[in-house]
Amino acid sequence: MDHFRYQDGELWCERVRVAELAERFGTPLYIYSAQTIRDHFGRFVEAFAPVRPAVRYALKAAGNTHLVRLLASLGAGADVVSIGELERAWMAGVPMGSITFAGVGKTEAELRAALDGSHSPLRGTALAARHAPGPVERRGSVGWCNAESEQELQRLERIASELGLIARAALRVNPNVDAQTHRFTTTGLSENKFGVDIERAPEIFGRFAGSPSLRLAGLHVHIGSPVYRHEPFVRAAEALSAAASLLAAGGHAIEILNLGGGWGADYTTGQSLWARDYAAQLLPILRPWADLGVEIAFEPGRTIVGNAGLLVTRVQYVKAGRARTFAVCDAGMHTLLRPSLYEAFHFIWPARVRAEHVPVRREPAPDLPGLAPCDVVGPVCESADLLAQQRPLPPIAQDDLLAVFTAGAYGMSMSSNYNDHGRPAEVLVEGGRVRCIRRRDTLAGLFEPEFDVETTP
Ligand SMILES: Cc1ncc(COP(=O)(O)O)c(C=O)c1O
Repeated sequence: MDHFRYQDGELWCERVRVAELAERFGTPLYIYSAQTIRDHFGRFVEAFAPVRPAVRYALKAAGNTHLVRLLASLGAGADVVSIGELERAWMAGVPMGSITFAGVGKTEAELRAALDGSHSPLRGTALAARHAPGPVERRGSVGWCNAESEQELQRLERIASELGLIARAALRVNPNVDAQTHRFTTTGLSENKFGVDIERAPEIFGRFAGSPSLRLAGLHVHIGSPVYRHEPFVRAAEALSAAASLLAAGGHAIEILNLGGGWGADYTTGQSLWARDYAAQLLPILRPWADLGVEIAFEPGRTIVGNAGLLVTRVQYVKAGRARTFAVCDAGMHTLLRPSLYEAFHFIWPARVRAEHVPVRREPAPDLPGLAPCDVVGPVCESADLLAQQRPLPPIAQDDLLAVFTAGAYGMSMSSNYNDHGRPAEVLVEGGRVRCIRRRDTLAGLFEPEFDVETTP
């Protein structure tokens, strides 16, 4: 599952004590295990090896450039959904040809930068001069754009024509398949804003056939996240395959089939299928296409980094009320939004425990002696500011450290400065080595954009 383990009552990340990191870098703190990222990425690639998968890591899950660089060194490309993520992926060393630009609302400026680096907002900046992997204006175009509408394709075609380029695109189709996940993260139903109805693919391909500036080269689907059963993926892949067959029969060259993301992570022990379990069901559908030379792409985020991240928070106050006991922490909805937004479960446990409280499994209600229900909440002025409700926990005291597990995906990337809290620091652990990969926000940094605004727009 991951490399966060208790030993003699202390929680460790690989060969480093979590409490030591909290003391050194402060709390709240995101801690990532490099080995866990390597394990999960390796398993995914191995599971789909028979179709030579193009794995485009979805930066939205966790976009720190050092994490992306680690993944790029393992051979990952990048799936990005904004100019910010695009520039991050490139800064992290992902070759432009291995970047897929997705997202339902790509602006004119974003598409220009995706096609031609001379339109990058990083051009001419000191940051790019110091850290970019090469001259930004010469970096070229993204591998392809996942286009979500006809108007987007028209815009892409026009911009490519103005730039004297040929843009490559995959059409995101909506197969009307229920991913059986939270309604806010379901994306493949007809009522969702994503993609175009799958039946319209032939008409749209026909419309752009022969375009001198746009090559519609394949299909893309993403039905939601996290998807814990293989059946929705199978239904989506079957629909994609049937649409591709229809297009091929109509004379359209299919170069890309992109299955998107949505693969699970273990929020509780053993919750997720393994990549090889998903692959066993999907390979029979995908293999014939791979054998024809079609590029089979995936955009996993959560399954790669979810278990690799831990959030550590310090209890500020323990407050026993009439109805409930609250552990008020320095992390909350501004640090990890998932429990508030999706009512998501994260296993939470003290970083130091007595022998009888070492958890054997991560589950909502461990069968251990002396646990009492507790609401783990943050400092934000909202009743929705919670990490867990009525959670059975060992005795919690002021200044204790609590570990929030499986916080690597959609943790830091969804954090905010709400109530003027700085966003946390992030550290990456590799064996016994620790690297701070993001400084904690400073208040000066937070306030700075509001000063001297009349001279710097
Ligand atoms: C188009 C697309 N691809 C990939 C992903 C990544 O999903 P996950 O992190 O569940 O793998 C998402 C998540 O929202 C997405 O919208």
